[in-house]
Amino acid sequence: MLVNLSNKRILLGISGGIAAYKSADLVRRLRDAGAEVRVVMTAAACQFITPLTLQALSGHPVHTELLDPEAEAGMGHIELARWADLVLVAPASADVIARLAAGLANDLLTTLWLACPGIKVIAPAMNQQMWVSSPTRENVECLLGRGVVVLGPASGSQACGDVGAGRMLEAVELARHCAGLFATGSLAGRRVVITAGPTREPIDPVRYVSNHSSGKMGYALAQACVEAGARVTLISGPVHLPTPERVQRINVGSALEMLSVAESAVSDGCDIFIATAAVADYRPVSVAEHKIKKTGDALTIELVRNPDIVATVASRPDRPFVVGFAAETRQVEEYAKGKLRDKRLDMIACNDVSRADIGFQSDDNAMVVFWDGGSQRLDKAPKTLIARELVSLIARQINPSL
Ligand SMILES: Cc1cc2nc3c(=O)[nH]c(=O)nc-3n(C[C@H](O)[C@H](O)[C@H](O)COP(=O)(O)O)c2cc1C
Repeated sequence: MLVNLSNKRILLGISGGIAAYKSADLVRRLRDAGAEVRVVMTAAACQFITPLTLQALSGHPVHTELLDPEAEAGMGHIELARWADLVLVAPASADVIARLAAGLANDLLTTLWLACPGIKVIAPAMNQQMWVSSPTRENVECLLGRGVVVLGPASGSQACGDVGAGRMLEAVELARHCAGLFATGSLAGRRVVITAGPTREPIDPVRYVSNHSSGKMGYALAQACVEAGARVTLISGPVHLPTPERVQRINVGSALEMLSVAESAVSDGCDIFIATAAVADYRPVSVAEHKIKKTGDALTIELVRNPDIVATVASRPDRPFVVGFAAETRQVEEYAKGKLRDKRLDMIACNDVSRADIGFQSDDNAMVVFWDGGSQRLDKAPKTLIARELVSLIARQINPSL
C-alpha cells in the first residue's frame, strides 16, 4: 500500500526502551510520507536517545516536561493534544502501557494521551517475558477494549539476548500501518462532489460581495472522503488552502459559476454531493463594466437572489445523496430541520457560527447532524476529525451494513 500521510499531524510519544533508537528513523519515515510530526519524550526515553536528535529530524522542539511555563506559553499541552490527528507511542514500554491503561496523567506523554481526541496507537517494545506477563497482557487488553490500535510487537532475537515476541515493528511498517488507519474504505468507489469556501459576487472589475468562509471544513471533508476511498471533485471558491492529495479541484468565483460547475460535475456521475460552500444568497443585479467612481455620499447597489445550489442538485431526477450545511447564529436546530425538509436534503450538518471558538475561520468545529429519523451531535474537535466523523455518518446512511 502507498504510504501517504500528507496533511496528517502525528504526535510521536517515545518512552524509555532500547527501541527508542528506531524512533529517529520513524520520524523520518513519517515525514517522508507527508506527515507533520511533533515529538514528546518521557524522562526515561531521554536516557536512550537525545531530544536534540529528534528535534533535528522532526524540525520542531521536542516536548519533555509537563510543568514547563515556557512550553505552555508556546503550544501548550492541551493545544498539542488537540493538534494531533493521531498519537503514536513508539516504543511503548511496559511502564507507559501500564500508565496509559490506568489512565494516569503523571507526565507529559500520559497527559497528552488522555487529552488527545484523535486516533491512538501504541507500538510495544520490551523483553519477551515482560510482554507475556499477566499485568502487561491485562493492560494491553484494556487499551484494545478502548479502541487503541496495538501495532506489533514482532518476534525475534532481542537486545537482551532472549528470543520471542517484544521487538518493536520496523519504522517503515509502523508508517504504513498509520497510513492504513486513515484509510477506512467506507466510501470505496463512490464519486463525491464537494463545494467549499465563499463565493465572490462582482460589483465592478475590482470589488465584490463575499463572506468569511475559509473553506477549511470542505477541504477537510475532501481529504476525509479520499481517505475513505472516494473519488473527489472539490469545487472551490477563493480560499488560501492547498489542494488535498488525490482531489480534483475546480476553482470558481461567483455563485452562478459554482452552480454551473456543480451541475456538470453531478451530470458526469456523482453518488454524494456535499455542499459546504458559503454561497452568497444575493448578487449585484448588474456588474459595472468599469470601476465605479466615488461620487455622492451614498451608493446603492441593488441585489438579486442567487440560485440555491444544494436545492437545485437535490431536485434533480438523478439526484445523488445530498448533504447540506447550515450556518446559523440562532435557533440553529429549528432552521436546520426546516432546510432538511424544504430543500429535500438527505442530511444536514448544522453549526452555530455565533460561537467564537468554532466555525468559519477556526480550525475547530462542532455540529449537530440531522437526517430523516435521526441525529448525531459531533462535539467540538479539529475540523479534520469532525470531517471523518461526518464521512462515517454519510457512509452508514448510504450503506447501513457498515
Ligand atoms: C538498558 C535498559 C533498557 C530497557 N529497555 C526497555 C524496553 O525495551 N522496554 C520496556 O518496557 N522497558 C525497558 N526498560 C525499562 C524502562 O526504561 C523503565 O520501565 C522506565 O521506567 C520506563 O519509563 P517510561 O515508560 O516513562 O518511558 C529498560 C531499562 C534499561 C535500564
